[in-house]
Amino acid sequence: MKHSFRGLIALVSSLIALALLAGCDTNTRMSTFDTKGPIAEAQLDLFMVTVWVSLFIFVLVGAVYIVAMFKFRERKDDDRPLPVQGHGNPLIEIGLIGASILLLVIVAVPTLRAIWYTHDFPVTEESKLGAWYQGEGLSAAEEDQPLTIRVEGYQWWWGFAYPQLGITSANELIIPAGKAIRLELRSKDVIHSFWLPRIAGKVDLIPGRSNGMWIQAGDSIEDWQAKTDATGSDEELRVAYASYLQDEIHNYYYGQCAEYCGDSHARMLFRASVVSDDEFTSWVSEIKTGHQAPNDMAWEDWYATNDESPDKLTGDINEGLQLFMSRGKCATCHAVNGNPRAVGVAGPNLTKLASRQSVASGWLNHRAEDGSVDVEQQYANFFKWIKEPNTVKPGNLMWKANGGGIGELDELLTDDEIHKISLYLQTLK
Ligand code: CUA
Repeated sequence: MKHSFRGLIALVSSLIALALLAGCDTNTRMSTFDTKGPIAEAQLDLFMVTVWVSLFIFVLVGAVYIVAMFKFRERKDDDRPLPVQGHGNPLIEIGLIGASILLLVIVAVPTLRAIWYTHDFPVTEESKLGAWYQGEGLSAAEEDQPLTIRVEGYQWWWGFAYPQLGITSANELIIPAGKAIRLELRSKDVIHSFWLPRIAGKVDLIPGRSNGMWIQAGDSIEDWQAKTDATGSDEELRVAYASYLQDEIHNYYYGQCAEYCGDSHARMLFRASVVSDDEFTSWVSEIKTGHQAPNDMAWEDWYATNDESPDKLTGDINEGLQLFMSRGKCATCHAVNGNPRAVGVAGPNLTKLASRQSVASGWLNHRAEDGSVDVEQQYANFFKWIKEPNTVKPGNLMWKANGGGIGELDELLTDDEIHKISLYLQTLK
């Protein structure tokens, strides 16, 4: 009986261990062990120091415990007398206190160093906007600054504003590789936390204050050179550095809100595309320009026609836009750059929405294996998101917002209307 009970315990614990191991995914897209940048790297190094110190203590204490347990356990028919009972040994007590302090110092020194490192923005010439940003409209003072991004947390999505460049985007962060970037973190409602595991994290977004951090995807040219011992002329080094960024850093990264913030906290994801300087510059200019009206009409003409004889605007896209502007009330909360009447700020800016590879703040994915947008999946996701936002993201404001949500319309949008709105949104490339 006793035997089978032990067997049962062994079986149950191996099953639990197996179940835990099954959680070890080889997919590293959110792994803090596969770092792509100096901040995540500093955080990993610090983590490993504490792991080794803890492991050392664990093994030492565990070994003493096991030896004592087996050597001094009570055996069958044991008639040895109790050992002499002692109280206090100054040498051991002071020794153990000393050893604990030493171990704490070993952990504290790199901890402080990492805190300072991640807190102090590195001022480098390469990161100044003037050194790499090709777009227009920067003042001399701005050219002398690094790129600043204002990250705004909402229940449950992310706003990304680039104040120096005069643009706003949402849920998919676009950043240039190898540049130190300053982040200002704010919240519009409750506490959230910015976490991009392979690049940097986590810092809280707190209502009523602005927190700061800096991030950088990939090494700066100096760090890269020091790590790889690369040599050559300036020109050769630049080319080699650019191909390092291209091969190892340009990528699509996955982020997550890391502070419990209500119903859909677990679905408050975001993505980050790390791109070249040129790609970044052209992305900014496309966001600034925004979108044309359907059929390449000027917005003025489109609205004139729409106001006078809306029936003349035919086809799914035109009707989708009409629904977006009127019956669906989408433009009350969403902006689409270019469209002079779609200027809502309560929800995500939808400029170039169709170029994003997910919707609903990263929760509904339509990124294909090869990194392109899976257009059919995108349509299905748009449709699902508009049809039942409250199932996709329980508690969100698109469904119910004190009378302003699409779940509160007197007559809910029909499938045909949602179909047309989805087709219109797919034109926002
Ligand atoms: Cu936002 Cu959790």
